[in-house]
Amino acid sequence: MTGRRLAYLVGLLLGLLALVGARAGLPTEPPAVSLLKIRVPGGNRKSPVEFSHQVHAARKVACTQCHHDYRGRRNVWRKGQPVQPCQACHSLRRTARTPDLKDAFHRQCKGCHLQLKQRGRPAGPITCRGCHGSA
Ligand code: HEC
Ligand code: HEC
Ligand code: HEC
Ligand code: HEC
Repeated sequence: MTGRRLAYLVGLLLGLLALVGARAGLPTEPPAVSLLKIRVPGGNRKSPVEFSHQVHAARKVACTQCHHDYRGRRNVWRKGQPVQPCQACHSLRRTARTPDLKDAFHRQCKGCHLQLKQRGRPAGPITCRGCHGSA
């Protein structure tokens, strides 16, 4: 095999690997239901929360109500793009700009349910038990 041919094959292989890597990377399709759980040092106080993409999609809640990637004040994330977990950007400690992980979830989830309820619309739970179950 000539050196050039070998280089071509190696290049092709690397290209294929990159493609596979991109595909095996962050998901773009939501699971029907997921169990949300923050790992808190010293142990969790509340049970994990069951979250259903299906229920929210059926209620016509837009993906961009929950998923974001801000450039300045503009959310540039669009449906079909890969989704990072909330904790990729919201850590256990708040920063000047971003709420901590627990607040991020509470403000987004409870915030919307509360707003809908106040407008007399069908809404998800706002009590602790409604989301965290009995424990
Ligand atoms: C009501 C809020 C909400 C809506 C609406 C919503 N999502 Fe999500 N989505 C979440 C949460 C919460 C997670 C879990 C994030 C985490 O793991 O930190 C998630 C996770 C995901 C993931 C990653 C799944 C995984 O296996 O890691 C994808 C992909 C996703 N959503 C896509 C979508 C798409 C596409 C839409 C619109 C059709 C959508 N989501 C609508 C809240 C929402
Ligand atoms: C790519 C990074 C990134 C990811 C992933 C991310 N956030 Fe954020 N989030 C931010 C930034 C940056 C801000 C601050 C925006 C600003 O300047 O007001 C923010 C703000 C928020 C706020 C404050 C109000 C608002 O919407 O601006 C809430 C609530 C929130 N995020 C919840 C979540 C939840 C829940 C998830 C997961 C479903 C999530 N975030 C995923 C970066 C991210
Ligand atoms: C933008 C508005 C909005 C946001 C954000 C939102 N929800 Fe909801 N939620 C709804 C609506 C609308 C319903 C449906 C109410 C009905 O059909 O009675 C619902 C229903 C629910 C239900 C009851 C149905 C079921 O799946 O058992 C749960 C639990 C729930 N939401 C949890 C969450 C969690 C956890 C989050 C944050 C990750 C969240 N919601 C974010 C609007 C929202
Ligand atoms: C609309 C849904 C919703 C409601 C209502 C809600 N939470 Fe949560 N909460 C979440 C989600 C989602 C998380 C992140 C996943 C997890 O770790 O449970 C969370 C996380 C937490 C955590 C940090 C994780 C842990 O286990 O220590 C605490 C503490 C907590 N919630 C307390 C409460 C209390 C107290 C109430 C009632 C005043 C409440 N929550 C009501 C959705 C909700």
